[in-house]
Parts: sequence; C-alpha cells; structure tokens
Amino acid sequence: MSENDSLKGQDELVTRASSVSNKGVARMQRDDKRKVYLDNAATTWPKPEGVYRAMDRFAREVGGNPGRSGHEKALEAGREVLRCRESLAALLGVSDPSRIVFTKNATEALNLVLLGRLRRGGHVIITSVEHNSVWRPVRALRCMGADYSIAECGPDGTLDPHELAKLIRIDTRLIACTHASNVLGSLLPVREIARIASEHDIALLVDAAQTAGRYPIDVEEAGIQYLAFTGHKELFGPQGTGGLYIAPGWEVEPLTYGGTGSLSESAEQPGFLPDRYESGTLNAWGLAGLRAGVDFVSHWGVERIREHDKILTERLLDGLESLEKVRIYGPRTWEHRIGVVSFNLEGISSSDLAYLLDERYGICVRSGLHCSPLAHATAGTLREGTVRVSFSFLNTVEEVDYLIRALEEIVSMV
Ligand code: ALA
Repeated sequence: MSENDSLKGQDELVTRASSVSNKGVARMQRDDKRKVYLDNAATTWPKPEGVYRAMDRFAREVGGNPGRSGHEKALEAGREVLRCRESLAALLGVSDPSRIVFTKNATEALNLVLLGRLRRGGHVIITSVEHNSVWRPVRALRCMGADYSIAECGPDGTLDPHELAKLIRIDTRLIACTHASNVLGSLLPVREIARIASEHDIALLVDAAQTAGRYPIDVEEAGIQYLAFTGHKELFGPQGTGGLYIAPGWEVEPLTYGGTGSLSESAEQPGFLPDRYESGTLNAWGLAGLRAGVDFVSHWGVERIREHDKILTERLLDGLESLEKVRIYGPRTWEHRIGVVSFNLEGISSSDLAYLLDERYGICVRSGLHCSPLAHATAGTLREGTVRVSFSFLNTVEEVDYLIRALEEIVSMV
C-alpha cells in the first residue's frame, strides 16, 4: 500500500468512525463558517454521537442519584456509574474496577495523591515538563513542610530516567510524572521510572491527562501506583469528569469527606474504595457520557487511534518543516511523542498567530503557556509561549493540509 493509499484509508476510517458513532453531528462545519478544531489537548471536540446520546438518555430517562436510594432510577444510575468504572478498568488494565475513583478532573485526582502523601512532609520528585496541576500543589506543599526536586528534561521535553533516579532521597515519598507533555507532546519513560520507583519502594503518580485513550496504558503490568486521568480529552467524555487509579496498599487520606450513600450510621469516612474518595453526589450524567466515550475508544482500539495520531502528526511536522520561519518544539521521532505539536512563526507572536488562524481560517488552536510554565522554561519559550496544535481521532488529513495551507499564506504575509 502506498503512503497515499494508507492515508486515504485512515481518512475513510475516520469518516466511518464519525458516521457510525457520530451520526448526524456536524464533525466540522465546511461552509462559510468552516471550523477546524485542533485544540484537543485542551478538550476534545466534537464528541462521538454516542456520548451526546448517553448523556441525553441519562438526563431524560435515568435521572436518579447513584447509590443513594433503593428505587429503580437510583439503581439504574448506580449501574451506569459502575459500567463507566468497568469500561475504564478494562481500558487501563485494572483488574478491580473499584480501584478507579471518580473526580471532577485530572487536577483533582493529582491533588488527591500529592496532598494525601505529602501534607505531613516528605520529598517528591517531579519533572521539568509538569503542568500547573502538579507544579502548583507541589509549591503549596512546601508551606506544609514538604520538599521537592525537579528532574530536568531536555529542551525537547524528553527525560533520561537516570536523571530522575539521581534525585531519590531517603525521605522521597512520591515521584510525580506526566505521561506526555501537554506542550511539547513528548512521551516520558513511565515504565522505566516505575521500575526505578519500585526498586526504592517509592510510589509513582502518573498524570495521564494527555495519554488516556490515545496511548496504550496497562497500569498493573507497568507497576504504576496512581494514575490520574481526565474524561474530557482523548477519552471523549464531557468536561467535569476524571478519575484516579489507586493500587492496592497505596491508599492515601481523602481530599474530601462526606456522604457516600454507604455506612451512613458511621461518623467516619468509609475505608473501602471507591466510597472512601467519592463524597457527595457524582457527576452521573457526565459519567454516562464518559462511558460512551471510553467504549468508542475501546471499539476502535488504542493502537489504531495511535496509528491515526501518527499519520496526522507526521504530516503536520513535514508540513511545518517545509515552511520558512517556523520553529518546531518537542521530539521529532514518533516513538517519543504524541499528536500535540508546539511551534512558533518568526515575526508574529503566538497569540496573534492563533487569533489569525481562528479569525481568518476558522482554525482553533491554543497559544501562550498552556498552564505549564515549567515545560516552556524547559523548551526555552517561557517569554513568548508557542502555538499548539493537538489532534483527536476525529481529525483528518484534510484538516492538517488546510492548516498548512493557511500557514503558508501567513508566512508569505509576515
Ligand atoms: N491542560 C489543558 C491544556 O493543555 C487544558 O490545554
């Protein structure tokens, strides 16, 4: 098969994906109001049609509060939540679904572990491409007596795990590491880091905000103790959903206490999962949608989704490299990256370029610092930021080509 045939095949695949699971939903408006959405690292859009349907069904037909009452609506709501947990467990290599607890996003899941393990002190190692969702709680923990070290990544955002190993101390209680940089798209060697952590009996917290649903993850096989994920990115769920996997024996103090629908006679928080970490009514509408998103991912398979991500990313990198005045950040080789690409164009600020792309061409990208000043300091772009393009499985080769044509035009103007 030629490269073109293969690309056409992928294009057809996505068209099919859309018509099967996205029936009736405008994937991209192609008319005068054409919008090409390339900001999927911020949140994926559009969602597969099944996600919209599942939420609508929950809202109109289910409606009960999961785990709170004995009537049919509450029981069905509970079953919906359980099905979401089970789908996620199957996707992430978790044998006991109750070890996945729901949070409102990845940030809350990360905070749960960081504060849970370090609020009474101790040392944590993070990397120099962490998002503010790790960086800010770690900075706040300093006031509670905790200390941190930063493992320096290269300017492309890749990390030599031995650099991290050198920072381990006798009081190191946690290593917190993103699976892939939300700025540079670089993949971090979490399997090697998990091995190093286990040699020292240190827990590893992986931030899978950018990888869950787009890169294969098997937490038990990899020996990861905590995996934080968001629902609204490559798992195609709605905003306000996310969660945390907690390995057996690595429970921490909860972030919140309250009603769980279980052991209501007790003044103490239940000790068992998931209830220990799920106080207050869950976002069950959202979890119904998340389950549909996870099932969409499982239906196509993460390997296939990654193959599609590769085709789009390599086409984008080739296109960017063919342009004058463009500076690209992050690793060049596919095995070290995901489809999140940062770049700058000489002579125009990242915010102006993003504005122009939206205003003139209907292309949605994110500019600036992407809530990760650490990653920008690592790449040397803290002052100017970057323009970031990020894909989902529902993007097409045609959209990449349209972006490149738009950039060609802009390059000729600046
Ligand atoms: N963390 C998200 C991003 O990278 C919102 O854009």
